[in-house]
Amino acid sequence: MRLDGKVAIVSGAGGGIGLATAIRLGQEGAAVVLADLRLDGMDAHVAAVCEAGAPDAIAIACDVSDEAAVAACCEETMAHFRRLDIIVNNAGLMNFRPLAELRGADWLAVLGVDLLGAAFFTSQAFRHMKGGGAIVNIASVHAVETTLDVAPYAAAKAAMLSLTRSTAIEGKPLGIRANAILPGAVETKMLRGNPNLASGAETLTAGDVGRPEDIAAAVAFLASDDAAFVTGASLAVDGGRLARL
Ligand SMILES: NC(=O)c1ccc[n+]([C@@H]2O[C@H](COP(=O)([O-])OP(=O)(O)OC[C@H]3O[C@@H](n4cnc5c(N)ncnc54)[C@H](O)[C@@H]3O)[C@@H](O)[C@H]2O)c1
Repeated sequence: MRLDGKVAIVSGAGGGIGLATAIRLGQEGAAVVLADLRLDGMDAHVAAVCEAGAPDAIAIACDVSDEAAVAACCEETMAHFRRLDIIVNNAGLMNFRPLAELRGADWLAVLGVDLLGAAFFTSQAFRHMKGGGAIVNIASVHAVETTLDVAPYAAAKAAMLSLTRSTAIEGKPLGIRANAILPGAVETKMLRGNPNLASGAETLTAGDVGRPEDIAAAVAFLASDDAAFVTGASLAVDGGRLARL
């Protein structure tokens, strides 16, 4: 299988796209670390990843916005598996406020998780991926087109594309590839909690909504050697939403 012998960390693996990704990477033969804020419900997720075919899986509590917690998560991964090959920076959150009402704390809450979380794991990757590796950053279509009241989220996701390019450049001599995925609307808790959908400020047709597994399949490709010559790229996985006027 494509990911036999590989060890992957997936952040935000407690549900949604992260959990589907952990299961898919396990199915493809990787051992998986499921990292999320809390460990509630994680036993069942670890079991699902192993049932899918992962040779081993563990859950680690990690707030990705806390640099020391990210370092500890990677140390624990190395202690348990002795290697690290794949990091999927998936943990994310949004807040909804007009610019006039946004305060520093609102910005920091989103940037801390959606941007710095990925940056902290990227630095760890450079320390631990001794034989090269692959980083997949889960950005968003909001990195390039956006709606009202989500400025911190759109900024964080746009910056994630820039982080992906910098990582690709510095990672190239080390055999570390970095790519970003721009999911469109995906059926998860995050999508259904979006007040712009409830208010009609953002509209979706049925064909605009994908499944977490659609994103997971793209992650598995970018994490695998099938993508050996793909780095610094941004891949929209959005059912064609960005392509249309
Ligand atoms: N669902 C969508 O429509 C959509 C679209 C574009 C991009 N995305 C992106 O996909 C990623 C996953 O989103 P999802 O839809 O599965 O959302 P979700 O809310 O279902 O899952 C997000 C996960 O991240 C975890 N998380 C939040 N803060 C964290 C922190 N500080 N440390 C560790 N984990 C933390 C949550 O506990 C949760 O398990 C996010 O980065 C999101 O921005 C989602």
